[in-house]
Amino acid sequence: MEDNNTPQTEELQINAASKSQGETAALQENLVEKKKRGSFTGKIGFVLAAAGSAVGLGNIWRFPYLAAKYGGGIFLLTYIVLALTFGFVLMIAEITLGRKTGASAINAFKKLNKKWAFLGVLCAVIPIIILPYYSVIGGWVGKYFFTFLTGSGASAAGDSYFNNFISSPWQPLLFFAIFVTAAFVVVIFGVEKGIEKVSKFLMPALVLLTIGVTIYALTMEGSAEGVKYYLLPDFKKFSIKTVLAALGQLFYSMSLAMGIMITYGSYMKKQDKIESSVHQIEIFDTGIALLSGLMIIPAAYTFSGGNPETLGQGPGLMFVALPKVFAKFGTVGGGILGTLFFALVLFAALTSAISLMETVVSIVMDKFHLSRKKSSIIVYVGTLLLGIPSSLGFGVWSAVSVGGMTILDMFDFLSNSVLMPIAALLTCVFIGYIVGCKNITDEIELNGAFKFKKFFNVMIRYVCPICIAAILVTSILDVFGVFNI
Ligand code: PHE
Repeated sequence: MEDNNTPQTEELQINAASKSQGETAALQENLVEKKKRGSFTGKIGFVLAAAGSAVGLGNIWRFPYLAAKYGGGIFLLTYIVLALTFGFVLMIAEITLGRKTGASAINAFKKLNKKWAFLGVLCAVIPIIILPYYSVIGGWVGKYFFTFLTGSGASAAGDSYFNNFISSPWQPLLFFAIFVTAAFVVVIFGVEKGIEKVSKFLMPALVLLTIGVTIYALTMEGSAEGVKYYLLPDFKKFSIKTVLAALGQLFYSMSLAMGIMITYGSYMKKQDKIESSVHQIEIFDTGIALLSGLMIIPAAYTFSGGNPETLGQGPGLMFVALPKVFAKFGTVGGGILGTLFFALVLFAALTSAISLMETVVSIVMDKFHLSRKKSSIIVYVGTLLLGIPSSLGFGVWSAVSVGGMTILDMFDFLSNSVLMPIAALLTCVFIGYIVGCKNITDEIELNGAFKFKKFFNVMIRYVCPICIAAILVTSILDVFGVFNI
């Protein structure tokens, strides 16, 4: 990001006389904020930063295990349909909302309508819930990186290695603490710029390595059945739960419905095109998720002897399947491959965690009027404390469970399957009926036509809110056992 001292032309053209006092004040605040906030160095900078936040454990760890759990091909199909419709529309909406108001989520809604300030608060709660448990998984990746680096990768291929690790009391906690500390160091010293620079090389490296491992995994005996399971939809396996899981995953993976894209949009320059940026971020994010599925699911299928039941390993799928693939390369080859792979995944996880932590820090700064340093320390300590139950839930506290969910699963369910759909639904209503679609589409059209304008309007006013509400209500009724779907 670069300091931007020239006020945006659009804002200079604002005719203060035609605005109410409140609006003018808000716009001035926006201007000052824009100066302070700086903006991205052009569209590429914007796309890369947003993709850096979007691509993370959601794509590499979460997508494959959900796809395995919810029937393979049918989940994939549902996800792609949702990404092209709901994902596209919501990402456009959030980025535009941010660029229009020049504010982060917590202020953006308030600026446009005071009564809707609560939606900013709801969006703020979500990253606060996600960051701790995200860091627990980040810690697991750290542990695997360390294991391969120190030459014990072969042991990670053993059947009970993963379960022994996550159920031991202190090891996961230690790696979790290291992971959170790394993110904290970046945030408190404000060295994200350096991270952004390295990510230009490391992200493509991750993609290349993933392609390489995928090609190898696909040549393994028995993988063809796994590919079929992953790619061919079996409509008998479709249920409303598939849709809810895919929807939650979509929001999570694209960093939607929690105000993050609003903040990114607030840094975007007026001359950069929103629509094409969104296409690029979406293609990148979805592409990496689909590829990760192709890398992990057929391999897991092979190792589980073609038993889709054991495929539903849940959060452990990547950690169980990949070391077995790496082991095929022998101790040295597998060691190098594993070290490299987990290093790159660790990096992707860290960039996402930094983006999450940044968001939470700015929420604390805005809400409590504290300095950046103090806010960062509070968030750091808070994250450490909140992550402990999620980590212990796989071992010492494994007795704590609701409906078969571990503590980590519960946080994950609460944020992704309950709060995010609610936030997304309300964002649609806010844009479609309170702010008005025109306000948003005008902002998009500041520099060129908006190709999917009609589609956007219909989706945001009718299709998205109605479908999300229907999905939410049926799945909540299902959880409470009112009826089984
Ligand atoms: N989108 C990230 C991922 O896929 C997770 C994330 C969510 C990061 C929200 C930042 C903000 O891993």
